Amino acid sequence: ERAYQHLLVDLSDRVAIIRLNRPEVLNALNLALVDELVDTLERLDRDDAVRCIVLTGNERAFAAGADIMEMAEAGVVEMKRRNQFRVWDRIRWITKPIIAAVNGYALGGGCELAMACDLIIAGENARFGQPEVNLGVMPGAGGTQRLTRLVGKARALEILLTGDPITAEEAYRIGLVNRVVPTEACLDEALRLARRIAEKPPMAVRLIKEAVYKALDTTLQDGMEYERNCFYLLFATEDKAEGMRAFLEKRRPSFKGR
Ligand code: CAA
Repeated sequence: ERAYQHLLVDLSDRVAIIRLNRPEVLNALNLALVDELVDTLERLDRDDAVRCIVLTGNERAFAAGADIMEMAEAGVVEMKRRNQFRVWDRIRWITKPIIAAVNGYALGGGCELAMACDLIIAGENARFGQPEVNLGVMPGAGGTQRLTRLVGKARALEILLTGDPITAEEAYRIGLVNRVVPTEACLDEALRLARRIAEKPPMAVRLIKEAVYKALDTTLQDGMEYERNCFYLLFATEDKAEGMRAFLEKRRPSFKGR
C-alpha cells in the first residue's frame, strides 16, 4: 500500500474512497494536500479496478477551506507564481464519477471542492459557504463560477457577498446537493450510490459525464451534436452488445468496460 501524507485511501467493490485527513485543522486544504488529492484522483482514474470515487472528510468537516496559514503572509507576486488553483483544474478532467460525502464544514475551498465533484450527498450537519469575503478576498477555485451555474445568480451572490454558510437542507432546496441524510449515514449513502453506478457500463458512464459537462459549457445545438456522437460511439463497445442482448434474453447484464 502507498503512503499518503494527508489522505486515507481505500478500495471496496470497485469504489475508491478518499478521506481528507488533516482533522486538526478541519481539513484545511494546503498545497500539499491538494497536490496529493489530484495525483490520487488521476491515478484512480487510470485504475481499471476503480469505477467510481467517493471523496469525504470527517463528521466535523469536509474541508474548512484553503489553508489560511499558507496565504496569510503571501503577496500578489508569490500568489501569481504559486498559481495554486491551477492544479484544481485537473479535477475537471477526471473521467470517473466522483461523489462528495459532506459532513460538517464545506467552506471556501471546501465548498469549491465539493462542487468540483459530480454528485454531493450531504449529512444533516453539513454547512456550505463561501466566507472568503470575510477575509478580504474572494473565491479562487470556482466559487463565483460553479456556484452561479449550479444555483443561479441571486442565490450565488447572496452566499458570496454575505459569506454566511447555508444548511444542508437549504443546499438541497437550491439544488446544490443531491440529497440530505442523517450525518452518520452520509458516507454509507454515498457508497451505496457509488456501488450502483459502479455496476453500470463504464464507457457509457464516462460519456454521460462528459456530455453533461459539455452542456454546462456550450450551446444547445453543439451539445446535441456532441451527445449524438457519444451515443453512436457506444455502439462500438462490447458492453452495448451485452446490454442489449441481456435485455432480449431477459437476464442481468454483466458489463466489462470494453
Ligand atoms: N485554514 C487554516 N486553518 C484552519 C482553517 C483554514 N481554512 N479553518 C480552520 N482552521 C484551523 C483553526 O485555525 C484551528 O486551529 P488551532 O486549533 O490551531 O487554533 C482549527 O482549525 C479548528 O478551528 P476553530 O478553532 O476555528 O474551530 P471552530 O469550530 O471554532 O470554527 C470554523 C470552525 C467556523 C470553520 C472556523 O474554523 C473558520 O471560520 N475557518 C475558516 C473558514 C474560511 O474562512 N475558509 C475560507 C478560506 S479561503 C479559501 O478557501 C480561498 C479559496 O477560494 C480556495
